[in-house]
Amino acid sequence: VVNKDGEEIWVQLSVVPVSWEGEPAALNFLRDITVQKRLEAQVQQSQRMESIGTLAGGIAHDFNNLLMGIQGSASVMLIDIKPDHALYGNLKLIERCIKSGAKLTQQLLGFARRGKYVVTPCNLNEIVNRTSLIFGHTRKEITIHIKQNKDLHPINVDMGQIEQVLLNMYVNAWQAMPDGGDLYIETDNVTLDAKYNEQKLYHIPPGKYIKLSVTDNGTGMDKETVKRIFEPFFTTRHMGTGTGLGLASAYGIIKNHNGIINCYSELGHGTTFNIYLPVSSSEAKTMEDKTISKKASLDNETILLVDDEEVVAQGCRQLIESMGCNVHVALGGEDAIKIYQEKQDKIDLVILDMIMPNMGGGETYDRLKEINPEIKVLLSSGYSIRGQATEILDRGCNGFIQKPFNTQQLSQKIMEVLNTN
Ligand SMILES: Nc1ncnc2c1ncn2[C@@H]1O[C@H](COP(=O)(O)OP(=O)(O)OP(=O)(O)O)[C@@H](O)[C@H]1O
Ligand SMILES: [Mg+2]
Repeated sequence: VVNKDGEEIWVQLSVVPVSWEGEPAALNFLRDITVQKRLEAQVQQSQRMESIGTLAGGIAHDFNNLLMGIQGSASVMLIDIKPDHALYGNLKLIERCIKSGAKLTQQLLGFARRGKYVVTPCNLNEIVNRTSLIFGHTRKEITIHIKQNKDLHPINVDMGQIEQVLLNMYVNAWQAMPDGGDLYIETDNVTLDAKYNEQKLYHIPPGKYIKLSVTDNGTGMDKETVKRIFEPFFTTRHMGTGTGLGLASAYGIIKNHNGIINCYSELGHGTTFNIYLPVSSSEAKTMEDKTISKKASLDNETILLVDDEEVVAQGCRQLIESMGCNVHVALGGEDAIKIYQEKQDKIDLVILDMIMPNMGGGETYDRLKEINPEIKVLLSSGYSIRGQATEILDRGCNGFIQKPFNTQQLSQKIMEVLNTN
């Protein structure tokens, strides 16, 4: 039913048969149930997100572990197989597929509002600079214009996920400008007041936010397309070139960070995406803090690798050995404690899987720390339940690496951890 303001509303009709001046008649009651309907839809939506989240989490964990096994073997083969070898191309292709597979689970997790691994106070300008540099390198036909507020407030985010959001937007912009064009990236501090939020139908508390906008002067979109861009698997691209998960995951990630993302587009002129993220009260940690390397090579370090899955453990072991380290493998938490008690003087670093049956990564970490408070531990996982990694890191764990990783990513992380005091 349409009310007198022209809004569509839901009504419930109750009919009571009566008699009216001796004739049978009906007494009709209309009750406005729009609010109730809206709440029902919201509950249904959040239940759906919850089950997609569980599904995505399960897939991410198992799938990333499988990829880790494949990556480990591929990395080891690549040590002996040089670029002039007939099979080199095939191995490189395997590595590319592993990357795409990992990206797919990342997008799915983002959409399902999961996969926030490590939340730290960051400066968004830094993330913008880093991502736009990487992106600009490979897309010379795009001119990138950056305008930043130099005193940008810090935000509390999972840096990897925010990078994922930015890259998704850059790639979309690039695809909308097939003959090249301009990409404008802006950051600023803003205050959203309650009235403004209400006007714009933003369901976020008023307060201090940082605003990021990404604008391209590409093809733009018509109104019907704009309405659907955040839907999962909505894509206008040809089969095989887009999955339609880019913006769905961006939406999920921003929501999961208590922010908002919206889009303005004009067909033939271009598109702007705006993102608002709540300001954090803590100081931003800069990237430089972590990357001062004292140790330059990993020769002869001894590493205790803890992972309950045989395939992963074997893959990782070979990968680590190929970097010149010695490896002990423990297939579970109890096993890890036993080995560490015997060999702690010789072990420089523990790589610890987070999700394991019986004794999980968190508990194992606490027990190891009891044995040696100075122990260096690198946490690894294919998937983390909300904030779990952050929690263990807050208890003093030295770093986190997400599976699947390759030799280069792992050696860099190990170096970082060994160099922390
Ligand atoms: N900057 C843009 N300019 C024009 N159209 C856009 C822009 N960004 C997104 N779109 C439209 O929104 C659709 C959905 O984007 P989304 O990133 O979610 O998926 P995709 O790019 O098609 O696939 P994927 O990102 O998974 O590879 C795109 O197919 C495109 O039609
Ligand atoms: Mg995309």
